Amino acid sequence: MSEIKTIGVAGAGTMGAGIAIVCARAGFRTRVFDLNQQAVERARDQTEAFLRKSVERGKLAPEKLSEIMGQWSGSTSLSDFSDCDLVIEAVFESLPVKHDLFGKLHQICPPHALFASNTSTISITEIAGGSGRADRFVGMHFCLPAQLMKLVEMSPGLNTSDETFAKAWALCEALGQKPVRTQDTPGFVLNYFLIPFNNDAIRLVEQGVAEAADIDLAIKTAMGYAMGPLELLDLVGMDTQKLLCEAMHGITNEPRAACPPLVRRMIAAGWLGKKSGRGFHTYADSKMFGA
Ligand SMILES: NC(=O)c1ccc[n+]([C@@H]2O[C@H](COP(=O)([O-])OP(=O)(O)OC[C@H]3O[C@@H](n4cnc5c(N)ncnc54)[C@H](O)[C@@H]3O)[C@@H](O)[C@H]2O)c1
Repeated sequence: MSEIKTIGVAGAGTMGAGIAIVCARAGFRTRVFDLNQQAVERARDQTEAFLRKSVERGKLAPEKLSEIMGQWSGSTSLSDFSDCDLVIEAVFESLPVKHDLFGKLHQICPPHALFASNTSTISITEIAGGSGRADRFVGMHFCLPAQLMKLVEMSPGLNTSDETFAKAWALCEALGQKPVRTQDTPGFVLNYFLIPFNNDAIRLVEQGVAEAADIDLAIKTAMGYAMGPLELLDLVGMDTQKLLCEAMHGITNEPRAACPPLVRRMIAAGWLGKKSGRGFHTYADSKMFGA
């Protein structure tokens, strides 16, 4: 198998923007694709702002900023992925959307290119089934925010070749991330805990047991978490949380994974979380991770 030099990131939303930072920062030519031009522009702004902050904090040499931005390019045209050696997909959590995208990518990308999905809850084997190259397909689940969190859950589908998995694992390490092997199961390790846990926090708000800020404070103080569950949900986004719950509950029937009604009301009200300026908490601006 040839070396990975160029990485395509499909979807420039909350996760795709962060994954692209990780790839470009590690020295890979990074192509970012989204159907939405604004999402591409936002991801570029976010990347620059994040890198500028890294320089201010002494974590990045000033001359590296333009070097990393030089590795980053964004587009609304999928044909720009024609030279990618690996595509990491981070589009909406929907099997038909992912199948449609990978079907197109299979026609555009070179035969040696590996495909990876950042899905949180959908089966890697099922997504790979619509990719035309199930042997060269792997799950790579980054954590939010990807540019700061090291964990990547790596999951082979039933048809993933050993060679593909080994190559994706090595790439993950070359990105400076910490891979952990998991089976192809809904939620892998992290979201198996996190989705029901976060929903419990939402239900405490629904029942009026405590204010959002006090729930977050209690969890952070007692459990040593950097962020409370409702603060984290504001970053995840209610729209994404709803899709995650539907996918997880649809597969497992776990009652605690069912989408709490409050999430649907918040989406209807436009309270998506940090990205819309209001979720369980309110924000002076809607910039994600400094951009
Ligand atoms: N938000 C999280 O905490 C989190 C964490 C880990 C993994 N994930 C997974 O990452 C994926 C993306 O989640 P997100 O939170 O970044 O969502 P998001 O809604 O923030 O971003 C999704 C982006 O995909 C774009 N998109 C949708 N369909 C597309 C298509 N066919 N082609 C190109 N772009 C398309 C949208 O325009 C949007 O910019 C999901 O599979 C989700 O399960 C999310």
